[in-house]
Amino acid sequence: MAMGRLMDDFAGKIAFITGGGSGAGLGQAKVFAAAGCKVVIADVRQDHLDHGVAALKARGAQVHGIRLDITDRTAFARAADETERVSGPVQLLFNTAGVSIFGPLEKATYDDYDWMMGVNFGGVVNGMQTFVPRMIAHGKGGHIVNTASLGAFFAASVAGIYSASKFAVHGISMAMRDALAKYNIGVSCLCPANIKTNIAESIKTRPAKFAHSGFQVDEDEIKALHEIYSQGMEPEELAGHVLEAVKNNQFYIIPYPESRKGLEAGFKAVLDALPPADTDLEGQKKRGTAMLKYRQAREALDKRKYGK
Ligand SMILES: NC(=O)c1ccc[n+]([C@@H]2O[C@H](COP(=O)([O-])OP(=O)(O)OC[C@H]3O[C@@H](n4cnc5c(N)ncnc54)[C@H](O)[C@@H]3O)[C@@H](O)[C@H]2O)c1
Repeated sequence: MAMGRLMDDFAGKIAFITGGGSGAGLGQAKVFAAAGCKVVIADVRQDHLDHGVAALKARGAQVHGIRLDITDRTAFARAADETERVSGPVQLLFNTAGVSIFGPLEKATYDDYDWMMGVNFGGVVNGMQTFVPRMIAHGKGGHIVNTASLGAFFAASVAGIYSASKFAVHGISMAMRDALAKYNIGVSCLCPANIKTNIAESIKTRPAKFAHSGFQVDEDEIKALHEIYSQGMEPEELAGHVLEAVKNNQFYIIPYPESRKGLEAGFKAVLDALPPADTDLEGQKKRGTAMLKYRQAREALDKRKYGK
């Protein structure tokens, strides 16, 4: 789904990164700062934010930190205003912050759904709702990287809500890429497998209003998860792949060769559910013509109603 090269000079560009105090987000901040960007990192954890700002400053990066809960829409708008005041208009947006909690899906509570969907999907929505109009208005083009997961393609009981939130990130990213192409704004969907980060601790950011969980997370589970993630890809290595993808305006970023087998099996199952291409020719023609007519009518209507 490459669309031609849009961006290869990062010098002086402003990058806003949610979850920028730790893990994948901090890796992105380091790599894009090294490429010449001024980075603004936003994080709900003050300790992560302090660590991230210090680590970036130690490398000579131009960095500004903002404490932000990405589920708070008013605060997100304030963070955007602050970013523009301190650094300038944002051309690179990284919706990276996310959380996970695992357990048997049938035990999940509404709080489990509301917390994880709110941060993982809602946070991405809020990031785009906040910045897309500003990016369109400044007219300089740009790029948005939304972090989903390999879990945007597969779902199993234990990571069910997490996967559902990442399927949603995948879907809205694909649609937003279509919507923003005419404004010279690219959109990528980062779908990592294991990364070496602090995500095992994400339960610590769960707000009290979502305290009623169906899952029993304890220190043993956090320790076991830490062990798995300690074997993950280094965040800066992953961010290097993100940099290349942004340069090439590539939609999917999945730099994990071990994912091939599972993805092949998954897509094969989808294709196997289709009847052969040379069947129901009359129905195919009727439906195809109707869809084409709708698209053309829709395009004309949209042009009249919304202009561009
Ligand atoms: N670690 C992995 O193996 C892995 C795999 C696939 C996808 N991901 C995704 O990568 C993204 C980054 O996670 P990570 O692995 O770097 O974890 P991490 O915990 O190291 O970093 C995530 C950061 O987001 C912050 N955060 C959490 N909730 C927030 C909120 N409401 N508002 C603002 N900031 C918030 C945390 O404080 C933390 O600093 C997530 O979207 C995660 O789902 C991670």
